[in-house]
Amino acid sequence: MADYGSFQDGIYAEGLLAKHRHFPYTFRDLEARAQQVLDHSLFDYVRGGAGDETTQDANVTELRRYGFVPRMLRDRSVRDLSTTFLGAELDAPLILCPVGVNGLVHENGDLEVARAAAELNVAAMYSTLSEAPLEEIADARGDSFAAFQLYPTKDDQLTDNLVRRADKAGFDALTITLDTGSLGWRPRDLRNGYIPFLRGRCLANYLTDPRFIELCGVDNPPPLHAGIVWSSLFSKPTFSWDDVARIRRITDLPIILKGICHAEDARKAATEGVDAIACSNHGGRQANGGLPAVSHLEGVLDAGLPVTFDSGVRDGVDVLRVVGLGATLAGIGRPYVYGLTLGGAAGVEHVLRSMLAEADLTMAADCLTTLADLHVVKR
Ligand SMILES: Cc1cc2nc3c(=O)[nH]c(=O)nc-3n(C[C@H](O)[C@H](O)[C@H](O)COP(=O)(O)O)c2cc1C
Repeated sequence: MADYGSFQDGIYAEGLLAKHRHFPYTFRDLEARAQQVLDHSLFDYVRGGAGDETTQDANVTELRRYGFVPRMLRDRSVRDLSTTFLGAELDAPLILCPVGVNGLVHENGDLEVARAAAELNVAAMYSTLSEAPLEEIADARGDSFAAFQLYPTKDDQLTDNLVRRADKAGFDALTITLDTGSLGWRPRDLRNGYIPFLRGRCLANYLTDPRFIELCGVDNPPPLHAGIVWSSLFSKPTFSWDDVARIRRITDLPIILKGICHAEDARKAATEGVDAIACSNHGGRQANGGLPAVSHLEGVLDAGLPVTFDSGVRDGVDVLRVVGLGATLAGIGRPYVYGLTLGGAAGVEHVLRSMLAEADLTMAADCLTTLADLHVVKR
């Protein structure tokens, strides 16, 4: 059982020697430091959301309305944060969400994330949009639980190729993202005229696929050519339950549907051979005006499938809130991307260790020793 809280002891011990770690400990500081490092347009791309960002902001504030009632006089010397997800034994109830620009915020960013996940044995989902092909990512993640995240394309043959490659590469699950039939309306990116994929970036999975090359019509398409072909194929707005059934037939990988927020959709998923749900509003990046993601969690859980939850999780207490509400895993996006920006795998590890230490020490303070002890109250 991992002793996550001891991370804090090491930091104070170093303080005695006047040594201070250069990575920040709060989301706010991580974001501020990342802003200093990243190119302005790329920072806006990561930080920004849809519309006036009401939903993105509400994701964070609404989650904070939930909390715990501490218990006292119970032995809390050992806390157990372990859990199981789709048959995998996990040390912690945390999952890194797929992020399409990991390969841009840091050199070899996709692989650095996988290395951090391997080091801490933390679960992760890896985006279709990456600078490293999925096969290299599968190798870099070691024994950690890894799902390949699929953006279904307009070309079913290309989509199915990606699924088969993920299967062959040894991924543990397939996550199909449903909320990105087209890109959301993102004023920050519109102001900058910036979308990295159109410039041919993060298309490694496409450029290593024979069907994509065939659709490009030339063997080594220059970046702009690849970007334009990608744009014409991204993504399939008519993607439906029939497509889920088709993908179900071509792979035995457990399927996670990402972006399900309605209880009826969750129930339908349960009858369609889907294995888990990622309850998420894409961090508020796709549709503004939606309710904060946490509002949907209870309804989605009712379907009885294992659920991961993301959109607004910022620290270790948020992880506990989400798990206390019934999600199996709490997902994070921007927090680890900022860690990656600042220090590659070491930066991601720092963010993960900080979150898990905070979760563990909060449980200790409240005399809660297992995840089953977490009972969340809304104020
Ligand atoms: C810069 C950025 C890129 C993202 N790219 C993807 C992606 O390629 N596929 C996907 O399913 N979700 C993507 N997401 C959404 C995340 O997987 C996740 O749902 C979201 O970041 C969670 O919200 P949080 O950032 O508030 O933690 C992206 C999010 C960010 C911030």
